Amino acid sequence: TVLIVDFGSQVTQLIARRVREAGVYSEIVPFQQAEEGFRRIAPKAMILSGGPASAADEGSPRAPDAIFAAGIPVLGICYGQQVMCAQLGGGVEGGHHREFGRAFLDIAAQSPLFEGVWPKGTRHQVWMSHGDRVTALPDGFEVIGTSSGAPCAAIADEERRFYAVQFHPEVVHTPDGAKLISNFVHRIAGLAGDWTMAAYRDQAIAAIREKVGDGHVICGLSGGVDSSVAAVLLHEAIGDRLTCILVDHGLMRKNEATEVLELFREHYNIPLVHADVADLFIDALEGEADPEVKRKTIGKLFIDVFEAEAKKLAVDGKTAEFLAQGTLYPDVIESVSFAGGPSVTIKSHHNVGGLPERMNMQLVEPLRELFKDEVRELGRELGLPERFIGRHPFPGPGLAIRCPGGVTRDKLEILREADAIYLDEIRKAGLYDAIWQAFAVLLPVQTVGVMGDGRTYEFVCALRAVTSVDGMTADFYPYDMDFLGRTATRIINEVRGINRVVYDVTSKPPGTIEWE
Ligand code: XMP
Repeated sequence: TVLIVDFGSQVTQLIARRVREAGVYSEIVPFQQAEEGFRRIAPKAMILSGGPASAADEGSPRAPDAIFAAGIPVLGICYGQQVMCAQLGGGVEGGHHREFGRAFLDIAAQSPLFEGVWPKGTRHQVWMSHGDRVTALPDGFEVIGTSSGAPCAAIADEERRFYAVQFHPEVVHTPDGAKLISNFVHRIAGLAGDWTMAAYRDQAIAAIREKVGDGHVICGLSGGVDSSVAAVLLHEAIGDRLTCILVDHGLMRKNEATEVLELFREHYNIPLVHADVADLFIDALEGEADPEVKRKTIGKLFIDVFEAEAKKLAVDGKTAEFLAQGTLYPDVIESVSFAGGPSVTIKSHHNVGGLPERMNMQLVEPLRELFKDEVRELGRELGLPERFIGRHPFPGPGLAIRCPGGVTRDKLEILREADAIYLDEIRKAGLYDAIWQAFAVLLPVQTVGVMGDGRTYEFVCALRAVTSVDGMTADFYPYDMDFLGRTATRIINEVRGINRVVYDVTSKPPGTIEWE
């Protein structure tokens, strides 16, 4: 087992996942429980995650000293690197040199951590997100890699098998990062493994059966890959004790609800209820501008609808006891400080932090540990048609979080039309599968334009498209200008209410994929 100490990084689960990809079992413990976890698990190797604190500050979180005396390999990442240095006698300095996003690492020495990928003297892309840096090495350490903002970007004490890096090897924007983690668990810690998605599927089915017993489950189905995979997995686990509900909240894309219903009914024989509740949602949101209030309002209404539908479906006065959702790990980590853990809430994803505190059903979330691409892999394992698997993600709160400022019916209509044209152009250009997610955002800003010799004063539409593997980090998609020009012209000509189109070129971090 590899034990991962979580200092509250947004991407700690990605470390677990990279270890999983290397076929090795791992567990994550919040730093407050690291000492206890270390004793209970007796790990063969440790990884210290990043986190929002500053190791230079007094009283900031530390790793248990015992792990450095146990003779096992330790890998520190970002904050984990600084903690390691601070605890082993090195120096850390608070942030003058903030580095966010892409950076380049120069390899200063040969190391088993870099074996097979990064020879001495070469330069490689890495992903940074930090404000502090290491300024003095603890005894026994040498610099094995440098970047312009971090002279000690990668350091090692080969003898004690301690490694520490300032960048994030766990994110895909460090293209060789997975190999580094695999080197750490295989070459350095000497671990081998046999974790597979088929094993995961069997485990997940057994866990659902155990949790649900002979109860009934209602599953929210949006047509996205997560809820579809959750539904099919549940169906395998509990058969006809599952009913799916499509909550048509008036915040879906153009024609989306109809398409999803048809697609699902064509392929599966799972009872599927269409709840047409657009007025309920839009009346509640009308004029609301605060993103968190929007998300929470939507989360609460979802539950109201599920509970009302569960009542309608009750057999002999007995309603469904369980509500299943396709919640993924990124939804969890960005919404809550998991298990009382140390991370900061970024936004309340409707199916996690947006849920009301009191609800009458228990949650079943079989995908809670997984990332989107792992869910796609699980979907293939379950035999889902590619049409489900290849769909772009679409958030539960839908178009409401793509209408910054107040949501109104008119704005939703404008946005829906612009979004449909944008996606149509993407499909026509053959780009749909190359893009992780694309959508339009209607800004609450009007600007002056001139059309047909007349003055216009209308809204701005922002287009967003990103590439990503798991939604945790992302890069904007590099369209060619012809594509952007063509799409902007069509939107302005065909959609009343928009007279200007802009393209969002922000990566994640520092942006998020959605605007709210
Ligand atoms: P952000 O905006 O946090 O989004 O970078 C990461 C991914 O999650 C999707 N997303 C959501 N999905 N419920 C969902 O089911 C939500 O409340 C929610 N908010 C964001 C987002 O579309 C992107 O794919």
